Amino acid sequence: MRATARACANIAFVKYWGKRDPALNLPAAGSLSLTLDGLHTTTTVSFGGAAEDTLVVDGAELPPRALRKAQVVLDLVRRQAGLELPALVESQNSFPTGAGLASSASGLAALALASSAAAGLRLPPEALSVLARRGSGSACRSVFGGFVEWRAGVRADGSDSHAVPLCPPEHWDLRALVVVLSEEPKAVGSTRGMLATAQSSPFQPAFVASVDGDLAEARRAVAERDLGALTRVAERSCLRMHGAMMAADPPLIYLRPESWAVIRAVRELRGAGLPVFFTADAGPNVKVFHPPEVGRELRQTLGALPGVSRLIEARPGPGASLVEP
Ligand code: DP6
Repeated sequence: MRATARACANIAFVKYWGKRDPALNLPAAGSLSLTLDGLHTTTTVSFGGAAEDTLVVDGAELPPRALRKAQVVLDLVRRQAGLELPALVESQNSFPTGAGLASSASGLAALALASSAAAGLRLPPEALSVLARRGSGSACRSVFGGFVEWRAGVRADGSDSHAVPLCPPEHWDLRALVVVLSEEPKAVGSTRGMLATAQSSPFQPAFVASVDGDLAEARRAVAERDLGALTRVAERSCLRMHGAMMAADPPLIYLRPESWAVIRAVRELRGAGLPVFFTADAGPNVKVFHPPEVGRELRQTLGALPGVSRLIEARPGPGASLVEP
């Protein structure tokens, strides 16, 4: 009744922002990401290990409201396995939690695998991806390693809305430099932010309508290791998502002046010939993708910018896996 799993975070080149079914976590459109080694969550689930569902992250017990996403996954697993036992969930992140570093993606993917294994279920990868999606949308992509696409699907029950692997991590040694500006949890989480954007941003339908074209371009760019094409599509997808967020009422502004300074520096470096591009999610931190040979120059330039508290380097990483005790 106990199992441990590890899953890596992923960063999207084509963003997921908007749901067609919030209860089932079905996205308004597809998305495409890279799973990143070095940013991972290791989670142990023990059914019967506590008197009620308990979630301990990095040694601290979380308040009951933080349990909600995890409980969606635990309840689905318990139902499928015919179990009624409460679960003790112990998680460790290798990076700051909740600051737009995709801890919910790695966390819910690790939880889906650890809890299903602890309950004796052996789910095929697509079913595992569906389960992880129910906890947090982006988590369905962390089930797979390397370059991954989440197919939005068309079925009302969500059974065809899961991630598929596009290219393994070895396909393209694209590195991510995470420029950490804040390690505090964000004020408005993704779930609430997406709902607010859908309800009040006149730009949200335009963002959603642009995704299919971006996906086709990003798929091709990844298959052909075309950094120029991936640069255009990833920065465009990121800025259109932030544009839709900022046009919500009240506005959702995740990027800070320091984030824009990083974005500006990346664009200047690119103007000077460095193959680099940026992306940013629902938080102030900026992720900068680049080939390994420019990593040192990038770290020197970006590390010296105001407000940068640390730099985290990551490379293409593997999918979720069980860890032997
Ligand atoms: C901005 O997967 O955290 O990182 O499905 O509500 O749990 P929920 O949202 P979540 O959203 C991630 C949004 C994003 C973009 C992306 O990763 O595609």
